[in-house]
Amino acid sequence: MKEELENILKEAHQLEFEIKTLEDLENFRIKFLGRKGLLNNFVEKFKDLPREERAKIGEYFNYVKNEIKKIYEDLKIKLEKPKKIKFDIAHPGEKIEIGYLNILKESIKKIRETFVKLGFDIEKGREIVTEYENFDSLNMPKFHPAREMFDTLWIKNKIGKDRYLLRTHTSAHQVEIIKNKKLPLRVAIPGKTFRHEATDVRHEFQFHQIEILGIDGGANLQELKGVLEIVFSEFFNKKLDVSFKASYFPFTEPSLEVYIKCVICNGKGCQLCKNSGLLEVGGAGMVHPNVLKEAGLDPKEHYGYAAGMGIERLVMLKYKIDDIRLFNSQDLRFINQFRL
Ligand code: FA5
Repeated sequence: MKEELENILKEAHQLEFEIKTLEDLENFRIKFLGRKGLLNNFVEKFKDLPREERAKIGEYFNYVKNEIKKIYEDLKIKLEKPKKIKFDIAHPGEKIEIGYLNILKESIKKIRETFVKLGFDIEKGREIVTEYENFDSLNMPKFHPAREMFDTLWIKNKIGKDRYLLRTHTSAHQVEIIKNKKLPLRVAIPGKTFRHEATDVRHEFQFHQIEILGIDGGANLQELKGVLEIVFSEFFNKKLDVSFKASYFPFTEPSLEVYIKCVICNGKGCQLCKNSGLLEVGGAGMVHPNVLKEAGLDPKEHYGYAAGMGIERLVMLKYKIDDIRLFNSQDLRFINQFRL
């Protein structure tokens, strides 16, 4: 009888290696451990044996039954396991699309990095500013005709006496920054600006500027020219000369227009630069004495430069983009060209 039990165990061990699914395992259980299975059938046979023999066989029977149960339980854990695994390090990974910065943000980042290398602090400013910040503090009191230069998007609600607006230029932060920072200072303020303008290939109602402000410690136009030449040369990856032409802004004296050598024709003259060899990239000048006074400084003792550049127009030149409106178009054919 023992032999019969041995054969049952042997068969169970052989079958163990053929079980691949939970269904196979269930058949295994029914065959060996089920109510009408081999082991229960065996019980029927040995219950009539003499007591002593029954005890001996009974002991071996329990051993075989436990062995088979163990086979069953181990296999059950193994076959159910894949469902429980949350992370399988051997599983080949799914390809993840890595995002990238929009070409405008990427360019702002690059320009910002150059300013940081030159020792400038980067300030953020706010997109909503007061009428005082955007105009009055910059030597443009109410009814000053220069306000017309900045087609303004006003915000309906007043808070206290203040009128609010979407900043028309990053110059809106000049006075606040001069007031709050230790002198001498060198600051760059990149950010979004807004104007109530009809859009065309070179004009958007929402665009980016970067303001450059240097007060005291040798902050003269020579330094500004040097800073701008480094910033533009790094941005365009080639040496670019900067030149100034006289201009007018109420918050600078003297005021200047900033030009770079045309990046398309290298100064020879082409359609883009209207044969001048030069491209206008922003405004600049020495901070007006009234602005210094507004910031609490004595203009006889303090001095400084300021400049403001339009970022979209620089990016357009670098990547030969012929319509500024493409930046906000959300057109993937445009966006995906600049996956760096
Ligand atoms: C200003 O905004 C002055 N705050 C610049 C300045 C700063 C002068 C400090 C002196 C000292 P302006 O309006 O020219 O200046 O604008 C500066 C640049 O912003 C322009 O050269 C142009 O590149 C960009 N810009 C202006 N309007 C638009 C527009 N509608 N769409 C795209 N870019 C624009």
